[in-house]
Amino acid sequence: MKLAIHKRPGSFSDRWIEYCKLHSIDYKLVNCYADDIIEQVKDCDGLMWHWHHADPKAILFARQLTLSLEKSGKKVFPNSDTSWHFDDKVGQKYLLEAMEAPIVKSHVFYSKKDAVSWVSNTSFPIVFKLRGGAGSINVRLVKSKAQADRLIRRSFSRGFPAIDRYSMFKDRLYHLKRDRDLAALFGVCKGFARLFVKTSIEKESHREKGYVYFQEFLPKNDFDTRVIIIGERAFAVRRYVRTGDFRASGSGVKGYERELFDLELIRESFDLSKKLNTQSLALDFIYDTEGEMYIVEISYGFVTGPFYDDCPGHWNSDLEWIPGNFKAQYFMMEDFITSIKQASH
Ligand SMILES: Nc1ncnc2c1ncn2[C@@H]1O[C@H](COP(=O)(O)OP(=O)(O)O)[C@@H](O)[C@H]1O
Ligand SMILES: [Mg+2]
Repeated sequence: MKLAIHKRPGSFSDRWIEYCKLHSIDYKLVNCYADDIIEQVKDCDGLMWHWHHADPKAILFARQLTLSLEKSGKKVFPNSDTSWHFDDKVGQKYLLEAMEAPIVKSHVFYSKKDAVSWVSNTSFPIVFKLRGGAGSINVRLVKSKAQADRLIRRSFSRGFPAIDRYSMFKDRLYHLKRDRDLAALFGVCKGFARLFVKTSIEKESHREKGYVYFQEFLPKNDFDTRVIIIGERAFAVRRYVRTGDFRASGSGVKGYERELFDLELIRESFDLSKKLNTQSLALDFIYDTEGEMYIVEISYGFVTGPFYDDCPGHWNSDLEWIPGNFKAQYFMMEDFITSIKQASH
């Protein structure tokens, strides 16, 4: 057995490679962006590539490469079931509705007329989102019909940059207020400079337009709950909202105590991961005013490092608690290797 790994420092690949070395797994490093990538993985059983939602190049072809390799009998992490809806809230709306999963009521319109007509009959506030983006940067509260109309007009004209310098700058300011340290100050200075200079990522990324996406606003959520399922294992993090804001993701303020998490939520998450057949599934939940939990969005990727490494334990699929720190990327490796062995039997 041999694995192909695309190395991207700071991503899951750091630990995948570490795992291969620790367990003497044969692997080679490949470059997914190269023209001959199919040739490069010919002598391997599977490809592992932690591609990032904010990489406009990966967005152009990661899903196509994945499905093509799958058609030739190779295993891929993330596979199509795991990744096709990644960073695509529009795709997730259809998927979760079709699965009858409890998604926060979400609406998508492909014409100005339909959007304006829906907005005329809705009550405010509502939440406006672009289909992609993370850390809350493309999520806004819409307080009035006039504001919604402005967003609709823009959605069907010049659109929005997929990566927004101004929101990123506001996010850096938030981190400075929260941390009051030199690193955060440096971040703000960099963000300020970026207001005037486009990065290559921004130059290459597409604009979001031709649709508009609104979600019902669920008020009084001081936190969201993220549950991550990797095969038969679950772990969870509570993320508190930024002060004076309704948005939790990207705030960096978190809690891990086992008591914070309802086992029913863990069970539901396992069920959905089984139905969707995912290798890695992160589900973000918030409450409605009756105390029912709803899914805000799902994704396969999450940050590598202390944020999740500090989880004090995880649950197995019998909902038993297994205390102790773990590396989620090792779980991915264990399952990936098992899937290759099973396929070759
Ligand atoms: N419909 C909603 N009602 C209330 N809060 C929401 C709603 N949607 C998102 N949020 C809050 O905003 C945060 C970011 O939204 P999310 O859709 O997860 O975007 P991102 O992809 O940027 O994480 C969530 O973590 C949650 O705290
Ligand atoms: Mg989120």
